[in-house]
Amino acid sequence: MKQQYRDFAITLAKQAGAIMRQNFTLGMKREWKGDGTPLTATDTTINQLVLEAVKKEYPEHGVIAEEGNNYNEQAYVWVCDPIDGTIQFSHGLPNFTFCLALVRDGVSLLGVIYDPMLDRMMVAERGQGAFLNGQPAHVSKSTWTDRLLMTREGLRHTTKYDLDEVMRTLAARKITMLQLYGSGYGGMLVALGELDGLISTGHDPWDYAAVKVIVEEAGGKVTDLFGHDPRWDKPVQGTLASNGILHDEILSVLNLKA
Ligand code: IPD
Ligand code: CA
Ligand code: CA
Repeated sequence: MKQQYRDFAITLAKQAGAIMRQNFTLGMKREWKGDGTPLTATDTTINQLVLEAVKKEYPEHGVIAEEGNNYNEQAYVWVCDPIDGTIQFSHGLPNFTFCLALVRDGVSLLGVIYDPMLDRMMVAERGQGAFLNGQPAHVSKSTWTDRLLMTREGLRHTTKYDLDEVMRTLAARKITMLQLYGSGYGGMLVALGELDGLISTGHDPWDYAAVKVIVEEAGGKVTDLFGHDPRWDKPVQGTLASNGILHDEILSVLNLKA
């Protein structure tokens, strides 16, 4: 992987973060999209920044981003969520991230997740480890005998996978389950060993492509909710990110049928 891809992704994350910090305010204007999630002018501005930057630097690459694509089945695709956690961003809660991954032929090779409010820059390249602001990041070493802290991420997509029974089973096993909105934030905390796992029920690749490489390079495991390793530039069937030790057991609790 070219060093220049990494630098490009970090530069974009810093630019996006500066825009988010500047625009983060109370009483923000927002619209509601057809899928029931909010949209602000900042989401659109950052999406446009990414589209233009890729077009300029890597015109042969595609972009799949939440607020607008430039994608024609290219082998290299930048998969981006300009703001993951717009609900928090637009309601005065300072936990949202910029997420960007470089995916080649469906494989997530490079990921950046940036929390602009705490200036936490998480970067990973396949085979090179994961780093928070330049320092190595590692998933937890928790096993089932420990008290576990996981996050169940998802705002509105609970109809396809009914996880209520799963949540009761996990609670009975003394797992504390946080409800976060934003797989970028949750995935970053899994990679840092602060959370032991993330269960998310969405389908959009921009929510997970960066989490995939970052958590795995921090020593963990990331699959869909069925235990498969799908393409990360196409719709996915939810995502499970864990410290790896817990992964198969969580999958067996999930026990989802296709
Ligand atoms: C949303 C959050 C939310 C999830 C939605 C996502 P956004 O991201 O991750 O938790 O349930 O599916 O769209 O809209 O803030 O990028
Ligand atoms: Ca978004
Ligand atoms: Ca998102």
